[in-house]
Amino acid sequence: MGGIAIIGLQWGDEGKGKITDYFANFVDCVVRYQGGNNAGHTVVVNGKKYKFHLMPSGVLQRKKVVIAHGVVVNPEVLLNEIEMLEGNGFKVDLMLSDRAHVIMPYHILLDGAEEKFRGKKIGTTKRGIGPCYADKIARHGIRVCELIDESLLKEKIETIMPVKERILSAYGMKMDKEFFGRYVEYGKKLKKYVGNTISFLNSIIDEKKVLFEGAQGTLLDIDYGTYPYTTSSNPTIGGIFTGAGVSPKKIEKVIGVAKAYTTRVGEGPMPTEEKGKIGNYLAEKGGEYGTTTGRKRRCGWIDLVALKYACKINGVDEIALTKLDVLDGLEEVKICIAYEYEGKSLQEFPSSIKVLENCKPIYESLPGWNGSAGKKRYEDLPLNAKKYIEFIEDKLNTPVKIISTGAGREETILL
Ligand code: GDP
Ligand code: IMO
Ligand code: MG
Repeated sequence: MGGIAIIGLQWGDEGKGKITDYFANFVDCVVRYQGGNNAGHTVVVNGKKYKFHLMPSGVLQRKKVVIAHGVVVNPEVLLNEIEMLEGNGFKVDLMLSDRAHVIMPYHILLDGAEEKFRGKKIGTTKRGIGPCYADKIARHGIRVCELIDESLLKEKIETIMPVKERILSAYGMKMDKEFFGRYVEYGKKLKKYVGNTISFLNSIIDEKKVLFEGAQGTLLDIDYGTYPYTTSSNPTIGGIFTGAGVSPKKIEKVIGVAKAYTTRVGEGPMPTEEKGKIGNYLAEKGGEYGTTTGRKRRCGWIDLVALKYACKINGVDEIALTKLDVLDGLEEVKICIAYEYEGKSLQEFPSSIKVLENCKPIYESLPGWNGSAGKKRYEDLPLNAKKYIEFIEDKLNTPVKIISTGAGREETILL
């Protein structure tokens, strides 16, 4: 049967949660493989809004969900999400990897301090994501298998705290030790969910359908994104293999999720950003306020230079184009087909931030439309909306197979 990957192609918030929830109906298991509670995935079912930071969005379709070892886990946030779901009548069938790294209170403090003292802000979510991944690589991390074993946890904290205390004190900060007891309690409550997710996923992937739900997006990827204005993990396809422990041979389809325009939250270059009327129009109509931090998202036209790059890296088979309805009512819609840099046309997404900052979008303009909102059949879309989609497919050489015309689960066109 095999795996399906759902991957963000822009700077996050493409609507991965909604698309994951939609496809979760057709699979047996949904897996988060990277990121942490910097993610905010919104799913709207029967008018009710659910926001997930750690829990795979497939949970609302009452499917088995897995948080694999590539995820960094804030245990308090996870327990709150389990409680919220159970309070809403959902039985949570979760397996949490014993190898996943745990976000500790000092990671959150350090995320804030690094943002404060860095010459230029990244605009992180301040959830401790970067410091937790840094500790994993530096071999200072604490994993779930240690969280659930009080004596191991004690030993780990005693090993690491002398280092952390010195770093915190350099920032003028101190930590009280009260958190040990709290973390022991988290471990006790989470223990029943903990397992070897690598063995589990490999035991089912040939017989069952498994969906891998990306967090963040390709342009926030630590390797492929607009570094250093990125997150600290690999939201791209490779993150599945290192973060969930399944072989590339098991992925049978890659669905790339892209908004019909572009948004970005936090700092860093965004060539098609519209700071004036259009940007505000998209932000207000699209409700572009972050699910995690509530920050207003920066908005602009769709960027096919960036999307082409994202399709290539991830080997995207088909695109899910979301929020088409937000473009309803505009007289014209613009599509960035190349960048102008130092008087020349640039077709490739550049590696250098300095270059990207100085790229000006080259646009093609198409006539706008009205009335795509809520449509459930391709035939019912306005002609100009269809032309917009066909233009994107043609330039990206990748079919658009899913079109989202509203936040609700049913406001979806599957081709
Ligand atoms: P994610 O992080 O990729 O899961 O995306 P977010 O949930 O952070 O942001 C997407 C926002 O757009 C959420 O509030 C969704 O409910 C909403 N949304 C998703 N698809 C559509 C759509 O097609 N139209 C509209 N109007 N809203 C959508
Ligand atoms: P979802 O899964 C949008 C951004 C932050 C910041 C940068 C680094 O909802 O699409 P971090 O806290 O990860 O160190 O912040 O990455 N960022 C996101 N932007 N959607 C997200 O997740 C994001 N997760 C992180 O705003 O610019
Ligand atoms: Mg989001």
